[in-house]
Amino acid sequence: MYILGISCYYHDAAACLLKDGEVIVAAEEERFTRIKHDFSFPINSIRFCLDYAKIRGEELDYVVFNEKPFLKFERIIKTILSTYPRSVGVFQEAMINWMGDKLWIKSLIEEKVGISSDKILFCQHHLSHAASAFFCSPFSEAAILSIDGVGEWTTTALGKGVADWNGKGRNEIQLFEEIRFPHSLGLLYSVFTAFLGFKVNEGEYKVMGMGAFGKPKYVDKIYELIRVNQDGSFRLNMKYFSYHFHTRRSFNKRFEGLFGRPRDSQSRFVTSKTSLYDYSNPPTEEEIKANQYYADVAVSIQKVTEDILIRIANYLYHKTELKKLCLAGGVALNCVANSRLLKETPFDEIFIQPSAGDGGGAMGAALYVYHCLLDKPRKFILKHAYWGKEYPEGQIMSFLKKNNLRYQYIGDEDKLLDLVVNALISGKVVGWFQGRFEWGPRALGNRSILADPRQQKMKDIVNIKIKFREPFRPFAPSVLFDKAKELFELNNSQEHYPLRFMLYTLPVKKRELIPAVTHIDGSSRIQVVNKETNPRYYRLIERFYQATAVPAVLNTSFNLKGEPIVNSPEDAFNTFSKSEMDMLILGNFVLVR
Ligand SMILES: [Fe+2]
Repeated sequence: MYILGISCYYHDAAACLLKDGEVIVAAEEERFTRIKHDFSFPINSIRFCLDYAKIRGEELDYVVFNEKPFLKFERIIKTILSTYPRSVGVFQEAMINWMGDKLWIKSLIEEKVGISSDKILFCQHHLSHAASAFFCSPFSEAAILSIDGVGEWTTTALGKGVADWNGKGRNEIQLFEEIRFPHSLGLLYSVFTAFLGFKVNEGEYKVMGMGAFGKPKYVDKIYELIRVNQDGSFRLNMKYFSYHFHTRRSFNKRFEGLFGRPRDSQSRFVTSKTSLYDYSNPPTEEEIKANQYYADVAVSIQKVTEDILIRIANYLYHKTELKKLCLAGGVALNCVANSRLLKETPFDEIFIQPSAGDGGGAMGAALYVYHCLLDKPRKFILKHAYWGKEYPEGQIMSFLKKNNLRYQYIGDEDKLLDLVVNALISGKVVGWFQGRFEWGPRALGNRSILADPRQQKMKDIVNIKIKFREPFRPFAPSVLFDKAKELFELNNSQEHYPLRFMLYTLPVKKRELIPAVTHIDGSSRIQVVNKETNPRYYRLIERFYQATAVPAVLNTSFNLKGEPIVNSPEDAFNTFSKSEMDMLILGNFVLVR
């Protein structure tokens, strides 16, 4: 039985295919179209899924979309009416968008996929999120918290999932409480992302990174924007915001009255603690002071977000009395908050899938149909993120030959790994392209840029010469699963899945050992690497460990600033050429600058 899940038209478009209840392939559309966070109809991802399974659209048993378009349209229209005439711009834009394809997604799927309309289903947005975590987790019973910007109406959903592994009893996800638009923690965070000069839905990580340079001095001020109850439920004071009626601006003059001028997106971020690459242009006192303020605002919104999540999670535990928690929705990508949830709530284990945002809804919707609508038993756990496209050796070779590129082929894996380890130790930056690309926004060792985490300078080199990104942004390490405890404070949580997907930050035990992957606040967003799910990457780090006594490498996504992570050998080579990367490994092929 084949079920195809689709998500699109808001943040990240994606498709995922289940075969007899198990994920066999999944990909986000941006990888194919090369448009970051592409939200258009994911025709390339769908074709890729069908090709992977060697089936035609008409052979699918069901296609399911990750939200209910008419409910969403209702929310948009009602919001427009309640804020008219200020919402006239939104009205015009909504009419153009929704009267085009969005509302008629069913016939679009019918036409593009080639499936009859009775096989097309719709699963509510937060139910898709919830299922994307719960049915990928190893838990037979768990509390579920789904939290994002907005779905149809819901912005926060609390519930529980029950589905055991022996097929007895009903599989069920109940969402028993919700908070509705315009009251949204995800949108509040996005407002501050925009205020701090970053792109919404992309710059949230930068807010987190920037926050490490500040002190949470403005928490009280933020609580003027949001009223939070003991159980974590909240209401925003909408007189400070304009996202519900404006197409471009998410906050208004009153907000600026409270927080001052927004940070210029073109300005550089420098405080007394940031490293500085361009020494010919040292920052002025005034520049440092202004940026320090923004860093303080960044950490304040981060802290408020964490505190609210902790309240909600405590309440959810009180309601469900379950020790396992599944987190989903864009807010679940906030790795600093996730670590606090594990530490400061009664939950002893958390599951988050790598594509926790809207792309993951495609997987969740498909799993929901299989387990809840068709009531089929569970047999799948999402143990890794490698569900994307792979390029066979012949294809890599023909690309290299066609473009007359000089390469070396090293079929002996030990030799290849030694070559890479020696390059890393000598301060080289290596593009590492292997196997199937990752599902979700993180590179986890198949489309990664690698460097030596022991060398402090690697942070600036990779930020500025390779990725052309802001010098204040931290890098993450990939660490051997069984050695992670030596470097990080993680008790027994290395068993936990979020660590596989780079979704926790942990304090670094020996900062002096790995300065290039230790953030200014002494934390690190780690990825543990398991031998059984990525053997070649594991062996690479193992050899690096044998050579240096450090069981970790610096791992950052294989892309340039503003671009999606690479998909094909061609994308990888283009990124390699445009940057100052020293070496490119495409499977067993080695290219040296
Ligand atoms: Fe969402």
